[in-house]
Amino acid sequence: MVLNINILKKLQAWTGITFAVFLGVHLLNTWMAIFGAVAYDGFQQIARTFYQFPPLEFLLLGALLVHMIVGVIRIFSEPKRELSPRARWHRYSGFFLMLMIAGHIIAVRGPSWFYDVYPAFVGLSFSMDFAPYYFYPYYFVFGLSGFYHGLNGLTIVLGRIGVHLSLENAVLRKATAVAAALTFAALLGFDGIWTDVGAPDQSEFAELTMRMLREFAP
Ligand code: HEM
Repeated sequence: MVLNINILKKLQAWTGITFAVFLGVHLLNTWMAIFGAVAYDGFQQIARTFYQFPPLEFLLLGALLVHMIVGVIRIFSEPKRELSPRARWHRYSGFFLMLMIAGHIIAVRGPSWFYDVYPAFVGLSFSMDFAPYYFYPYYFVFGLSGFYHGLNGLTIVLGRIGVHLSLENAVLRKATAVAAALTFAALLGFDGIWTDVGAPDQSEFAELTMRMLREFAP
């Protein structure tokens, strides 16, 4: 089968833009953890009515899947070329996101799909409290990879559909540093540094997690 590289690029552009809309809202939501549970959960409940509206959720997750598949096809089918540091980081962050995304969706969306239990702020507080050495580095690198890949990706794809948005390296670096600070502050927020988080180990999400671990952990 002959793959048309321009079609693949267009497909990657449109699926990337579609997912980036969700990602922007999602990261903004995550950063609201700095202001506590009411701000985080309130924002999420409104945003969720859009991204978990079945046809839109199907579109969002479908776009993500196609975007990843096209990315892998392009890596294997296009001739090897020297990558700029910026493009190299784009690729590294994409690999990390691909490695983690399925686990992330199953862990945070699975409970509401199968048990009608939503993680919400309290669920993330529980996770940070339960396994901080895992969740701090994981969510930090995951959130930051999402931010960098999303922002740098937008500058590439908008150019591909005729909208030229040039972003200097220095601006991209500064924006990523701000995103790093906000993501770390948000994780501290879930961990109860800025506001009182109550007793996350008493939440429905904590109970479900512990039950799953008892049933399925070796
Ligand atoms: C610190 C970083 C992050 C945290 C704390 C986080 C947390 C969450 C939570 C709690 C949910 C469930 C939302 C709900 O119940 O409404 C969720 C869903 C999701 N997250 Fe993340 N997330 C992070 C970063 C990311 C990144 C970087 C991506 C993708 C690149 C991502 C992709 C998704 C997707 C696809 C869903 C499922 C959306 C749906 O179908 O409802 N997340 N995340």
